[in-house]
Amino acid sequence: MKDKQQKRPLEDIPEALRDIPISPRSSSLNPKWIMLGLAGVAILTLGTLGVVRLFSSPSPTNTVSVEPTPSPSPTPEPEKIENILGHLPYEEANPTQLKAITGDGRIKLRNKAADSFLQMQRDARASGIVLTAISGFRTVEQQEYLFFEIKRQRNQDTRKRAQVSAPPKYSEHHTGYAIDIGDGQVPATNLSENFEQTPAFRWLESNAAKYSFELSFPRNNPQGISYEPWHWRYVGDAESLKTFYEAQQLQNTSSSEENTVN
Ligand code: DAL
Ligand code: ZN
Repeated sequence: MKDKQQKRPLEDIPEALRDIPISPRSSSLNPKWIMLGLAGVAILTLGTLGVVRLFSSPSPTNTVSVEPTPSPSPTPEPEKIENILGHLPYEEANPTQLKAITGDGRIKLRNKAADSFLQMQRDARASGIVLTAISGFRTVEQQEYLFFEIKRQRNQDTRKRAQVSAPPKYSEHHTGYAIDIGDGQVPATNLSENFEQTPAFRWLESNAAKYSFELSFPRNNPQGISYEPWHWRYVGDAESLKTFYEAQQLQNTSSSEENTVN
């Protein structure tokens, strides 16, 4: 009975009803349509996936890769400038490069610096200003005495001494380009901050650059050395420029204002 219902032979359908179109309901069960439907769904699904990938893939190969976490770029180390308590190292000039700038021959500078100083001295004199040379080129041995012996006599600690005097091998005076200048009419101000009150200093402020001299240790200089209005250096040729300006970038530090010997 059950079998008979499921396999209803065409002959069982009344003839009048045999030409009625097959209803959609009954056609959905047709395996051919089911297969076609499934194939359509598959094509649609694959097509959609392809489009999504095309627009979302970061790389043309569509591979999923785990990027290595970039290590933080190292902060560049600030260049370390060799110095001792703010003083930079200098080579001792060769004696053959030196020329006397005083009548007794005791004070010397490098040839070009000497010529320029002597010219400056003459021009200042013509304006009624007396520039006197107090100290020029110094050997390492002389600086050794100035730093350690004076320090001992004054019972100064190293840092205090270094604010006003360079340790041996670290003085601009070794180069033969540096000179301590005084006012011949006010010698009491020699090597003192009061030198800045003299006519000689005021004249130097206005004119020294013409002769390629500049103050080495102005107030609040980046090396942290005491203000020295009397200490000038020659920067009038390639050699002297290189000597003083190559890689000199120290942090700003405040300078002490102690008045004392050069
Ligand atoms: N007074 C300066 C710093 C020197 O001794 O060279
Ligand atoms: Zn000096």
